[in-house]
Amino acid sequence: MADISSSPFLQVLSGKKPERTPIWLMRQAGRHLPEYLELRSRAKDFMDFCYTPSLATEATLQPIRRYGMDAAILFADILLILDAMGRNVRFEKGVGPIIEAIDTASDLEGVPFPKVTERLSPVYETVRRVRKELDETTALIGFAGSPWTVALYAIEGRGKTDRHKAKFWAYERPDEMDVVLSHIAEGTAHYLAAQANAGANALQLFDSWAEGLPVDIFRKIIIQPTKYLVNRLRELGVDLPIIGFPRGAGGMIGEYYRETGVQAIGLDTAAIPDQVNKILPPNVPVQGHLDPLLMVTGGAAMERSARDLLAAYADRPHIFNLGHGVMPEVKIAHVERLIEIVREGA
Ligand code: CP3
Repeated sequence: MADISSSPFLQVLSGKKPERTPIWLMRQAGRHLPEYLELRSRAKDFMDFCYTPSLATEATLQPIRRYGMDAAILFADILLILDAMGRNVRFEKGVGPIIEAIDTASDLEGVPFPKVTERLSPVYETVRRVRKELDETTALIGFAGSPWTVALYAIEGRGKTDRHKAKFWAYERPDEMDVVLSHIAEGTAHYLAAQANAGANALQLFDSWAEGLPVDIFRKIIIQPTKYLVNRLRELGVDLPIIGFPRGAGGMIGEYYRETGVQAIGLDTAAIPDQVNKILPPNVPVQGHLDPLLMVTGGAAMERSARDLLAAYADRPHIFNLGHGVMPEVKIAHVERLIEIVREGA
């Protein structure tokens, strides 16, 4: 009988090149799907939705049923861990996330770790339920935000900011920044280990705000905490493949790959295939990186770009994905067409 390790997605993550390129899309569950909007209307608010296993399970499975993606991604949010750490998180329409911001590193330490992990137990229940529903060709991805991206939200308190406050911390209060990053990394290690124990088949670290950083700061706030997190996961007995997605890392992906210990690199929209192929050894799996805007327009431009990406990574393990998340405006017919193209091959 086939087991999950022979699924195309996990084959790629183990460095192999399966017969066809697997595909899933970041934010594949969500507002572009009418069935999601219907489900969402049953929850009090977005956080409640994430903390309700029956709803989160259904939202995770919706894009699998509709599109037959090669991987499901747990329906949750990278900000749940801050909520569990006692920094109230809510989402407001038109505004995005609002977090009770921290003023000092110790503001994050009010809730002890076993309690943080326990507060997130509805998420593990979702993982168990989803894994039971999926067949053996579809992998389940667990995820968390990377320490820097989560710290940034904790410090800024909002989603849409210039992110200067968090960067000023990194420059002016480096010791305190270290404490914040290690604290988040430690909590995240336990959170991801619990997702792994509940049945996730791979893990992704979202570092959505890895862009625009000077190299020394990139090493300190992106590479070091990610390396610590990956090591902690291994110490906790987690042997799942890990995809690092340092969005906007550009030429730093080589050092990020070598230093952090992740198994695969998620590439963003601006990644340049020729450079990626020079920077990363040929056996390193990459994931990405079609411009999400092309999923709104569809048509010849989308088809050409998708085929170009397939051709560019024909000689290395490649998981097809977007360079960032699916937007609410994306058309279902365009996603269907994209999947056809990827399944046909370059
Ligand atoms: O399908 C999936 O990818 C699974 C679930 C998932 C969500 N968020 C659901 C969600 C995942 C993996 C995330 C990750 C996430 N969350 C990131 C990293 C990826 C990225 O986009 O860079 C970040 C930065 C967040 C934080 C976040 N969550 C913001 C800034 C927002 C508001 C903006 C928006 O798109 O509304 C969210 C809300 C959110 N997370 C929604 C969904 C489906 C929309 C909520 C709704 O239904 O109104």
